[in-house]
Amino acid sequence: MMPSATLPPLRCPVCSAALLPDNLSEAKQLVCESGHSFDRARQGYWNLLLAQRKRSKAPGDNEAMVQARHNFLSQGHYQPIATAIQECLAGLVAEKLADKVAHSKPALVLDLGCGEGYYTQQIHQALTSVSKDSQCVGLDISKPAILHASKQHKQMTWLVATGADIPLMPESVDIATLIFARLLPEPTVQVIKPGGYFLVVWPGPDHLRELREQIYTEVRDSDLSPDSQLQALFEPISTQTLHFRFSLSQGDAIDNLLMMTPHGQRLSQTGREKLISLQQLDIQADIRLSLYRKR
Ligand SMILES: C[S@@+](CC[C@H](N)C(=O)[O-])C[C@H]1O[C@@H](n2cnc3c(N)ncnc32)[C@H](O)[C@@H]1O
Ligand SMILES: [Zn+2]
Repeated sequence: MMPSATLPPLRCPVCSAALLPDNLSEAKQLVCESGHSFDRARQGYWNLLLAQRKRSKAPGDNEAMVQARHNFLSQGHYQPIATAIQECLAGLVAEKLADKVAHSKPALVLDLGCGEGYYTQQIHQALTSVSKDSQCVGLDISKPAILHASKQHKQMTWLVATGADIPLMPESVDIATLIFARLLPEPTVQVIKPGGYFLVVWPGPDHLRELREQIYTEVRDSDLSPDSQLQALFEPISTQTLHFRFSLSQGDAIDNLLMMTPHGQRLSQTGREKLISLQQLDIQADIRLSLYRKR
């Protein structure tokens, strides 16, 4: 059996005190000094999402979306994105280790809106290759997503929680990542250490253009740059553009991509059937990796 993850500095979502493993329960439970307790799920994740924080009974991506994203990602179409993220983070951690005076501990990385953990797992690999004791936490509001992630990857800490109230101690995270997920600048900045980093991966204007052309009569270029939302709290360091093409050749593969994007959610049944009957769809990926430092 794989070793389980060392716990990061967790914060009680009820009263904000430190959450520590209860030795009497062989660390199957977390407790705070006020006695709020949270059980570890059989698969190893922690559910720290309070009922009053949920806007619906089952918030976040549902099981079918999680499965579709997993099927799509495991075909490797987005590996160039994972590799670019790994290179960026490994570079940051190596640089941090070289700066022994300012930082001496291994890095703690938090992947917000981590989904089924495709990128989180690869971030963990890259991180531990440069700094063995580094830790990686995957957080998502979707229980099916975290369940999927925790069944596959035991070496990380997986949290069902909201990015709007992150159950980690303030200023405990060296690097936060947000990959195709919603920005919540205020709660994010609170958990990042002074001078720590935030890597945001987001779609550029040409991302999945060919797919959008099949769906909409007019394809609009949206400017989704995180700069304006982050500028008061974070200093922009760099933005990398990643352009590549990939090809989907079966109905199933096209259907998976539709299921995991907001575009597919807006598609009529007839539109969906027309798309998945295509023999082949060649698509471009246009991705931005923007790195920020906490001000
Ligand atoms: C487009 S998916 C991206 C998943 C993953 N980062 C990836 O790229 O494969 C967005 C994720 O954000 C999660 N999510 C939505 N609202 C959230 C919130 N308030 N807090 C944390 N996660 C949230 C969803 O459940 C979903 O897994
Ligand atoms: Zn508490």
